[in-house]
Amino acid sequence: MKTSVCIIGGGPSGLLLSQLLHLQGIHNVVLERQSREYVLGRIRAGVLEHGFAKLMREAQCGERMDREGEIHEGFFIAHDGAMDRVDLHKYSGGSSVIVYGQTELTRDLYDARERMNGTVIHNAEDVTPQDLTSPRPSVTYRRGDETVRIECDFVIGADGFHGVSRKSIPKTVLKEYEKVYPFGWLGVLSRTKPVSPELIYARHERGFALCSLRSQVLSRYYIQVPLADKVEDWSDEAFWAELQRRLPAEVSARMITGPSIEKSIAPLRSFVAEPMRYGNLFLAGDAAHIVPPTGARGLNSAASDIYYLYHAMVAHYKRSDASGLEGYSAKALARVWKAQRFSWWMTMLLHTFPDSLEYDRKLQQTDLAYLFSSEAAQRSLAENYVGLPF
Ligand code: APR
Ligand code: PHB
Repeated sequence: MKTSVCIIGGGPSGLLLSQLLHLQGIHNVVLERQSREYVLGRIRAGVLEHGFAKLMREAQCGERMDREGEIHEGFFIAHDGAMDRVDLHKYSGGSSVIVYGQTELTRDLYDARERMNGTVIHNAEDVTPQDLTSPRPSVTYRRGDETVRIECDFVIGADGFHGVSRKSIPKTVLKEYEKVYPFGWLGVLSRTKPVSPELIYARHERGFALCSLRSQVLSRYYIQVPLADKVEDWSDEAFWAELQRRLPAEVSARMITGPSIEKSIAPLRSFVAEPMRYGNLFLAGDAAHIVPPTGARGLNSAASDIYYLYHAMVAHYKRSDASGLEGYSAKALARVWKAQRFSWWMTMLLHTFPDSLEYDRKLQQTDLAYLFSSEAAQRSLAENYVGLPF
């Protein structure tokens, strides 16, 4: 098989790039290890920057997002007995975010790929990128007994943190930066009315909590838990009780609880791999970088990679201009690191650390007191939360 761009990974990064390239007449193939049902069964975050939303519209995938997604112009931080609101709209020069689940967004991308007869190969096993430093790399994969080779100009590694792409870059070339936090988030999805129309991030001595939502009838809640905890350790009753303990009393009093329809624990990690290009392999999204979910930057960091890659590919194929591809890694990483900084800051601000000193806890309180006493600090938070420019 021959194509121009072989994309490894059918998550949001790979599908969005595939769709954008297709619309520009650039032939591409997506190789996904899992089935479509499996990919769509994963519950992930749900806060989109406008830059991401714009890209979805450009990819002709924004219709349902614009219809069903909710515009959020602010969120709350509960701390030290107070509930302070971050006015995103006011402090970001009129911007906001869209609350729309990543699962739904991925479904829209799959539907669009199907509508346009895009090639998305599911259940592709042993995907192996080859000859990455040659002008004609290839990717092999297995389906049942059959091994298929795809020859291409470029390979895109959009195969997430556990993918094969990053691992095919020699250790002498790749530098990895990592910070693992000593806790995870236990998340529950429930078919209940959300406790608040806007998100509530809560700092509490028992640990962080977050009230989020997918729609007016679907809530998503999280609590910080020790790394050793297992989902089985947490009954629904225990989850709701702990969540309510960590929220202001008036919030807990109006919380509607119900059976969980999904419950999972995600460890928190910050990770960046440099460079994001090796020969004709380009990494994008979670394959190159991970953030803790605290600042809702994960999916949005993938979006800027795709934006840069898409424009670089178009310049290459339409104008024989290689500058975008040459500059991709440096440009993408500059924004990636800013998202890392912001997610790290929000994580450090709002969580309880097992080995923290009383001094550290005083600093967290002071950081929050400063934030809500300073318009400059709120402006800084807001511009990062709605997304720095691409
Ligand atoms: N071969 C083929 N596909 C693979 C392989 C492989 N060896 N390894 C992983 N994949 C697939 C996974 O099954 C998954 O569907 O690659 C896809 C990667 O998708 P994601 O992990 O969702 O990563 P990405 O598309 O970059 O999405 C951005 O940012 O913070 C996050 O939650 C956010 O998942 C979102 C991500
Ligand atoms: C979510 O809704 O899943 C969510 C929202 C905001 C975050 C993280 C997760 O910061």
